[in-house]
Amino acid sequence: MAKRSIPVAAADLGGNEEQYVVDAIRSTWISSTGVYIGRFESEFAKLCGTRAAIGVCNGTVALHLALLGLDVRPGDEVLVPSLTYIATANACRYVGAEPVFVDVDPETWCIDPGKLEPAITRRTKGIIAVHLYGHPADMDAICYLAGVHGLWVAEDAAESHMARYRGRPTGGLAQLATFSFYGNKIFTCGEGGALTLSDPQLELRLRTLRGQGMDPARRYYFPVTGYNFRMTNIQSAILCAQLERREQILAKRRKIFSAYRERLEGISGIGLQPNAGWAEAAPWLFSIVVDEKSFGRTRDELASLLAEEGIETRPFFLPLHLQPPFRQQSVERGERLPHTEYLASRGLNLPTYNTLPEEDIEFIADRIRAQRR
Ligand SMILES: Cc1ncc(COP(=O)(O)O)c(C=O)c1O
Repeated sequence: MAKRSIPVAAADLGGNEEQYVVDAIRSTWISSTGVYIGRFESEFAKLCGTRAAIGVCNGTVALHLALLGLDVRPGDEVLVPSLTYIATANACRYVGAEPVFVDVDPETWCIDPGKLEPAITRRTKGIIAVHLYGHPADMDAICYLAGVHGLWVAEDAAESHMARYRGRPTGGLAQLATFSFYGNKIFTCGEGGALTLSDPQLELRLRTLRGQGMDPARRYYFPVTGYNFRMTNIQSAILCAQLERREQILAKRRKIFSAYRERLEGISGIGLQPNAGWAEAAPWLFSIVVDEKSFGRTRDELASLLAEEGIETRPFFLPLHLQPPFRQQSVERGERLPHTEYLASRGLNLPTYNTLPEEDIEFIADRIRAQRR
């Protein structure tokens, strides 16, 4: 039998994606004007329960624009989790601010509201709560604390499309939220991003900054220095087709999650992603935590054994406080992030994509079980 080759993620563009892209090309509206942009923005805002959504080129740019819009400046500090993709912290540096790392809560894998207060200084301006691996952060506790200290809160919802926190969708739980539509995300357009928010003044500021700083009411008059962070009509066309199929996409991925759960639960040494009582996590990448003592192998050993069987996996993010651009400052602040380091060294994302067949899930679970010693 031919060796299997199961990627960790794969885009599913099997709906109206092609038709809408062709339509955008035939219309010749291939830059950042065209019918699909407005349609994507209004549909996505509705789904997130916000007044507005603003399409941008990618999720990193969405974070950068968020911090510009919130007027974060050189010398400011922003509280972020260390267990996240590097874009969350890089964006702080783009505006001259310093990301200050806070440990995650082992019950959510997201920034721990109980650890925020000791990290606040007079330079702290806000908090970016990342809904890691689809699970929402505890937003009420975070927003309460932010309110007490006069800080803003932004959600990095790159990985949590359509997750719910106490019944409300992520993307509408703070001053603003950012999304990524990179190829491995639940909804994708290859490269793409968005911000969601409800404050009309902030929306105007963000739209102005996104479009080179041009005054929306006066063409070619630029009251501020802006950027070209715009999303194209082609990116929006793909997203419109993805959003049309959102229930189908989510249902497929939820089925994959329950198939994994059923087959992996009870394997000694394999921990599953926790689910807080108030959370409805987004089915992004199925995650496990490998405990060497009871499983008999490390996470990295398991990953290479699975790779030999043609199963691609992805280790959890290497903590940002240990990465070269941030390490020194983290040491100087004396940061201790034990839960982050525990998860980062043991966590593994398993293949998760809409078209992953049940027999492959069966095979993956079987191969994991077989590696236990
Ligand atoms: C938590 C998080 N934030 C930000 C990003 C950056 O998004 P992009 O790759 O679209 O720039 C990603 C992933 O790609 C992410 O996982």
